[in-house]
Amino acid sequence: MLSLDAIRAQFPALTQKVYGKPLIYLDNAATTQTPIDVLVACREYKEKSNANPHRGAHYLGVQATTLYENARNKVAKFINAASSQEVIFTKNATEALNLVAYSYGMSKISQDEEIVLCISEHHSNLVPWQMVAKAKGAKLRYLYLADDYTLSWSEVEKVITEKTALVAIAQMSNVLGTVYPLKDVISYAHEKGAVVVVDGAQSVPHLQTDVQALDADFFAFSGHKMYGPMGIGVLYGKREHLEAMPPFLRGGEMVEYVEEQVTTFNELPYKFEAGTPNVEGAVGLAAAIDFLEKISLEDVKAYEDGLTSYALGKLQEVPYLKIYGALDAKGRGPVISFSLEGCHPHDVATIVDSDGIALRAGHHCAQPLMRYLGAPATSRISFALYNTKDEIDACVASLKGVRRWLGHGS
Ligand SMILES: Cc1ncc(COP(=O)(O)O)c(C=O)c1O
Repeated sequence: MLSLDAIRAQFPALTQKVYGKPLIYLDNAATTQTPIDVLVACREYKEKSNANPHRGAHYLGVQATTLYENARNKVAKFINAASSQEVIFTKNATEALNLVAYSYGMSKISQDEEIVLCISEHHSNLVPWQMVAKAKGAKLRYLYLADDYTLSWSEVEKVITEKTALVAIAQMSNVLGTVYPLKDVISYAHEKGAVVVVDGAQSVPHLQTDVQALDADFFAFSGHKMYGPMGIGVLYGKREHLEAMPPFLRGGEMVEYVEEQVTTFNELPYKFEAGTPNVEGAVGLAAAIDFLEKISLEDVKAYEDGLTSYALGKLQEVPYLKIYGALDAKGRGPVISFSLEGCHPHDVATIVDSDGIALRAGHHCAQPLMRYLGAPATSRISFALYNTKDEIDACVASLKGVRRWLGHGS
């Protein structure tokens, strides 16, 4: 692994002060900061190769097409897709999941079939399935979590049955940090005849992704949570599914022949990429993958596991603090949600913000989970490969002062 100093030097955003204090950025599950390599790649594209891809027969058009398709190939290799035709660029994970819901869900799911979700799903992998269930007369069922915030196998066997047409589940919860045993869940769901949609938005920056080893039918993620730009996301889908699915959006690029009354559609992956794509975003995403691979995801995970373990220990020293999630770094990612008794999470976030510390407060777009946990909102810290134990110490020190700040004795 590169030295921490060398890694941090790649992130200009981290060198700034906020309210006169060094920025401590612990909101990485929402969006990561951007390394210089990505900033340079996006800028170079705009300066030298900016043109509409796939259309121009001129030099810049060819350059833009090459860069865009090279980015697709890089993504395919990064997630071990069998073919780059199975990689569709979208705006973000949310759009990728909506694509599956509108195209696969609305055309393949029938009345009385069941759609299974985990109770910890982000709204992006929940609200689209509510729409499908309502439109098709299907039933939504939930996998509930055990007291230690894990998914028990008995729950999997109880909820996923022959009636299940589709399972939609995140690889890593954006609230609890739990990493679900997806390989086994997917294999079991396949035995029952269901397809599985994986929301990889949280896991991709932290774990090696292998869609073939997982045997995922669909896998969605966003560039901006893995050191890439905003406005670019990915949907991986098995070719057999993508071939059989109708387009999601219609217009330019996704067509083969258009007549007055009928249209034939382009081949994969273009059938699902209507309109001018985000070439700049794809180029930035490719640079982010290069950046991550230079460090190696194995080293990233080992380093972040160390941070998570350290933070879990330190947070437990804060009086009146309750952690929502496993207390052992094993089997979880670098996302820690907590509450401070008697303090609203928004007050917690505002007070630590005045110390230059960025953390997240709210329902984290997972309201059903919040209701299940009996907590309307939590505070959340989440780490990236550039965070340090010193930053965790500073955050813990700041948290220790919050209750007093709000007028509690200690
Ligand atoms: C688990 C999970 N899924 C989906 C999303 C949605 O990502 P985006 O807003 O980039 O579409 C998020 C974002 O926080 C997330 O944490």
